[in-house]
Amino acid sequence: GPAASGKSTVGALLAQELGYIYFDTGVMYRAVTWAALKRGIPITHEQAVTTLSETLRIQVAKPTVNDGRQYTVYADGEDVTWDLRRPEVNEHVSPVSAYPGVRRSLVKQQRRIAQQGSIVMVGRDIGTVVLPDADLKLYLDGTVAERARRRYLEVVQRNGEQAEHNHTQDSVYQSIYQALARRDEIDSKRLVSPLHPAEDAILVDTT
Ligand code: DC
Repeated sequence: GPAASGKSTVGALLAQELGYIYFDTGVMYRAVTWAALKRGIPITHEQAVTTLSETLRIQVAKPTVNDGRQYTVYADGEDVTWDLRRPEVNEHVSPVSAYPGVRRSLVKQQRRIAQQGSIVMVGRDIGTVVLPDADLKLYLDGTVAERARRRYLEVVQRNGEQAEHNHTQDSVYQSIYQALARRDEIDSKRLVSPLHPAEDAILVDTT
């Protein structure tokens, strides 16, 4: 499902309940984006970004710091867990994840990870592309307004602020709403693996 539909919350709880591995594939697209930004590789340079996705060593491990993280992500050995949530990553990750070569490389790694055992794998194309033979496919969705509200509350809480009584009037909420709507549009219209539910997925509206 799309951003802020509840994938990582539900996925992590489900994995915990079942005693399965939990793996959020979004971190891989984010790690490639962050590494490109950090190394000064232009996001528009498809070949260079694709090569980076083939060579960057992305590892996801149990949390190493007790700061609210669900896991620790390393990119070439460096802890990038929180860097992956930076606004500049949010802004550039959609074009990166639209490059066919990047998807080919990361999907290959995701299938290898899925072979390690029982797993709850979270992402936008898991049921449709990565693991078409999955035993259970869940597609989470929600209205843009509700998903934007969740991200808004996360941002406000992280900054230790009070949420506006009428959050829809808050410019922070409005910019989150716009950014989400734009990301939905790019993710669902891209040519390679656009965001859509698998035919055999169970749809869950988390609004
Ligand atoms: O779930 P997320 O916000 O961390 O995902 C970040 C970006 O990565 C999102 O804009 C789309 C892309 N993505 C993808 O294309 N396929 C996936 N399986 C997971 C994420």
